[in-house]
Amino acid sequence: MTLRTLDTLGDLAGKRVIVRADLNVPLKDGEITDDGRIRASLPTINALLSQGARVILISHLGRPKGAPEAQYSLAPVAVRLAELLGREVDFATDTVGDSAHEVVDQLTDGSVALLENLRFNAGETAKEESERRGFAGELAGLGDALVSDGFGVVHRKQASVYELAELLPSAAGLLIAAELTVLDRLTETPERPYAVVLGGSKVSDKLGVIGHLLPKVDRLLIGGGMLFTFLAAQGYKVGASLLEADQIETVRGYLAEATRLGVDIVLPTDVVVAAAFAPDAAHEVRPVESIEDATFGASGLGLDIGPDTAANFARIIASSKTVFWNGPMGVFEFDAFAGGTRAVAQSLTEVDGLSVVGGGDSAAAVRALGFSDDQFGHISTGGGASLEFLEGKRLPGLEVLGW
Ligand code: 3PG
Repeated sequence: MTLRTLDTLGDLAGKRVIVRADLNVPLKDGEITDDGRIRASLPTINALLSQGARVILISHLGRPKGAPEAQYSLAPVAVRLAELLGREVDFATDTVGDSAHEVVDQLTDGSVALLENLRFNAGETAKEESERRGFAGELAGLGDALVSDGFGVVHRKQASVYELAELLPSAAGLLIAAELTVLDRLTETPERPYAVVLGGSKVSDKLGVIGHLLPKVDRLLIGGGMLFTFLAAQGYKVGASLLEADQIETVRGYLAEATRLGVDIVLPTDVVVAAAFAPDAAHEVRPVESIEDATFGASGLGLDIGPDTAANFARIIASSKTVFWNGPMGVFEFDAFAGGTRAVAQSLTEVDGLSVVGGGDSAAAVRALGFSDDQFGHISTGGGASLEFLEGKRLPGLEVLGW
């Protein structure tokens, strides 16, 4: 099976082309803190505009629960997109309602509009296929074709990703095609040693992929929120740090499986423990065996890997030939807890081979810490999506495009 690419849609001049992008960017006080995903969507948008298509962009932002929530509005994205494109972007204040229809009806050839957050509609993420199909039908009414380009969301069987692609003539955009070219290199014949570095805060999402990754990698380095579940699985007390208690047994299983397979699961030996989740919180470095012996006792929060761990991770990463990194090592947004993420990012720039940074948060982290995109082999816009791709899973949003 081969991915249907943009050219398979034929001449799109004058057509209403829906583009399912992943414009799920980080926001702080209503300001976009990293516009990487918007920039990554530009080649497809520009290609369509230059053909004279009427471009209707759709995306999710955050995880609202099927109803509007002001903090998750895509309005700031429309403003940034207009700046980057150097042209007006009409914004609809709903997704399939009066505003969307009005905005779409007013589009002229070679112009672009963005509709409000898909996830303000319960049908987008509904468990029931019929509900998703109903919402996809409403979306389909707005366009003549679909270009699916939200790589970050292809692992989700959601209305705009899957059912909509069945209802309209559909193809993958340039971003999805570019992502697959690089990620294929990681799944087919990765040069060894092959290391995967996992961190971040979407802990339950990521714990699930570990079992599938173990048979494929040589080294698995664990930082970020999930490290505490690993430490707890080894019997350590982790204070008030992020912990998925119901996953401890699963993690023990992973540790045993890694031993059986000869895969090195590399865990932190020290962590930075803080009195509170705040940029100026008192903090100290503790060995993992004695997190609760810190000044803050059982109320201490682990917010970063410690310096010894960071140095060890950096050494292992820099000596690997293929490295995939997903998820910050700590709360990099606060300077006091950015050391681990900075060390990992730096070591990825030193890899003599292929280094890939995956996911919105990791990409935002490297840029926030002053690295530039060209210091890495590839920065993927997909976090969960790229991990599931590396697992070798069939992803619904790709499958529906013929892949
Ligand atoms: C991401 O940030 O990984 C993508 O935008 C998907 O978001 P989700 O995990 O909320 O589906």
